[in-house]
Amino acid sequence: MSMLRNPSTKYAPFPQVPLTDRQWPARTITAPPRWLSTDLRDGNQAIVDPMDAHKKNRFFDLLVEVGVKEIEVGFPSAGATEFDFISGLVQSGRVPDDVLVQVLTQSREDLIRTSFASLAGARAAIVHLYNAVSPAWREVVFGMTRDQVRDIAVQGAKVMRDEAGKQPNTDWHFQYSPETFSTAELDFSLEVCEAVMDVLAPTPEHPIILNLPATVEAATPNIYADQVEYFIRNLPNRDSAVISLHTHNDRGTGIAATELGLMAGADRVEGTLFGNGERTGNVDIVTLALNMYTQGVDPELDCSDITRMKEVYEYSNQMKIPERHPYVGELVYTAFSGSHQDAINKGMKAKAKANKEFWEVPYLPIDPQDVGRTYEAIIRINSQSGKGGIAYIMQADYGLNLPRNLQIEFSKDIQAVTDAEGKELSSKRIHERFIDRYVDQPGARLKFLDHHTYPDTSAKGRRIVEATITDGGREVTITGSGTGPIDGFVDALSRHIGIPMTVLDYSEHSMQRGSNAAAISYMEVEHPDGKLFGAGINTNIVAASLEAIVSAANRILAMR
Ligand code: KIV
Ligand code: ZN
Repeated sequence: MSMLRNPSTKYAPFPQVPLTDRQWPARTITAPPRWLSTDLRDGNQAIVDPMDAHKKNRFFDLLVEVGVKEIEVGFPSAGATEFDFISGLVQSGRVPDDVLVQVLTQSREDLIRTSFASLAGARAAIVHLYNAVSPAWREVVFGMTRDQVRDIAVQGAKVMRDEAGKQPNTDWHFQYSPETFSTAELDFSLEVCEAVMDVLAPTPEHPIILNLPATVEAATPNIYADQVEYFIRNLPNRDSAVISLHTHNDRGTGIAATELGLMAGADRVEGTLFGNGERTGNVDIVTLALNMYTQGVDPELDCSDITRMKEVYEYSNQMKIPERHPYVGELVYTAFSGSHQDAINKGMKAKAKANKEFWEVPYLPIDPQDVGRTYEAIIRINSQSGKGGIAYIMQADYGLNLPRNLQIEFSKDIQAVTDAEGKELSSKRIHERFIDRYVDQPGARLKFLDHHTYPDTSAKGRRIVEATITDGGREVTITGSGTGPIDGFVDALSRHIGIPMTVLDYSEHSMQRGSNAAAISYMEVEHPDGKLFGAGINTNIVAASLEAIVSAANRILAMR
C-alpha cells in the first residue's frame, strides 16, 4: 500500500463550525490560564515503562517547584500501583496547601468509588470523570445511542456526588470531560455537560471544571477554537463552569489549538511538560508558558532552570527531548549559519550598548539566560559559519576584537579546518588555532626579543630602530629607519628577510583590566604576493606591535 493519488476517496475534510461572528480571532492572551499537569497520568500511561514511585515522586516535586497548582496524579482504578502511589502521596503530607491533586476515573460506579477511596484524607482534590461522546466511539466502539452515552455520564456524576458526601472533610472539586470532544457534535457535548451539571449543581463559588479534549487532533487549530467558543457561548450557567482545554498533538498543532482555544475564552489548560503523552503527545505546557512569557505575560510557571526540568523529564519518562524542541532543545540557542551568527552578534552588542527596554535579538525569540541557558552556547562554528560567528566567539569568550579584514582571513582558515574535519570546532580550539597561527607560531623562523630607538641624524624626524630577534634560533641584531618604531622595524625586518613589507593597517586593545594588562596588536601587512595579518601579545604595547610584524613576516616566509 502507498499513498493514494486521490486521498478524498478515503479521508473527508473536517466540517466547519456554525459560527459566523466568532470573536476569538481579535483577542490576545493577556493572562495565564490555570495549569493542570497530566504528566503523571496521560503522560505516564504513554511511556514504555510507566514510572515507579520514585520517578513519580521526583516528577511531582518538580511540578510543585515549577509552580503547577493542579496535578493529575494518576488513574487509581487502574491497579494497585497507581492506587497505592496516590493514596501514599495524599497521606504523606507532601501535597502543599495551594496544590490540588486530581485523579481520573471512567464513568463506572466501582471505579469511581475506588478513585474516591484513593483520596481518603485529602484536604482537597479534583475527581475527573470522563466518557467518550463522539459518533465514532458511540457507534463503533460502544454501539450505543446518544441517550445511553449521556446516561453513562449522568450516572457517574451521581456516584461522584454520593461519594463526595461520604467524605465531607475533603474540599471536593468535580471535573467532567466529554472525551473526544473535538470530533463530537457540539450540541451533543453541550447536552451531556448540561446533564452532568444538573446532577452536580455547580455554582460560581464552587464551579465544575468542564474539560474539552481534542483526544485526537483532527482539524486545523481554528476549528478547535471555534468549537471552544461555540461551546462557551451556548453553555447555560457559564459562570458556574471552568472551561478547560486538553489537546493532543496528532497534527503537530496542539500548541496553536490551545492558544486559540484560550483566545476563545477557556480558563484552564491540561498538558504535560515538554509534551509527553499518547501518540504525538499532550500539549506542552512549558512551550505554552514560554510563548506567553515572550509576549510579556507572566505565565506563573517558573522555567528559570529549564535544564533541570529536562533532566527530571528524561529521568522519569526515560525519554529524550529532541534537540530542536522549543525553548529546551540542545540546539535551540545555537546558530550554525554565518549570517545568523552575524545578526545575533550585532543584536547582542546593540542590546548591551543601547540598554534597550525590550528584547530584540535577531533569531532569538527569548533571552536564553531567562531559562538558565547561556550565551556561550549560542554560536558554534562549523563549515557553514561565517566570520561573524568566529568574531563573536573570539570577542565573547576571549575578549579579542579582531579587525574586520582579520575576521575574513581567519574565518577562511577555520572553514578549511572544519571542511577537512567535517565537524564543528569548539570555542577553545578556535582560540588555540588563532594563538598558534598568529601569536605563538611554533616552529616559526623569526622571534622578536627586544628593541630600542634613537634619532636618525641623517634624516630629520626619523628614528633608527635597532632590534634583537632570533632567526632560526640564532640571535641577530637588525637595523632600520622610519618615522617611528613600527615603521623603522618594518624597514629593518624587510631588509633582513629580503622581502619588502608595508603596514596597511594596525589596531590594538588591552586584554584585561589593570595597569599590568597585556595588549594585543593586529598588524595588516602588504607584501609582493598579497596581504596578511600578524598579531602579538605583550604587556608593552610597542613590543606587542613589533611582535605582530614578526608574526606577519613569519607567515609570509611560510608561504614561500
Ligand atoms: O485525551 C483525552 O481525551 C483524555 C481524557 C481522559 C481527558 O485524556
Ligand atoms: Zn488525553
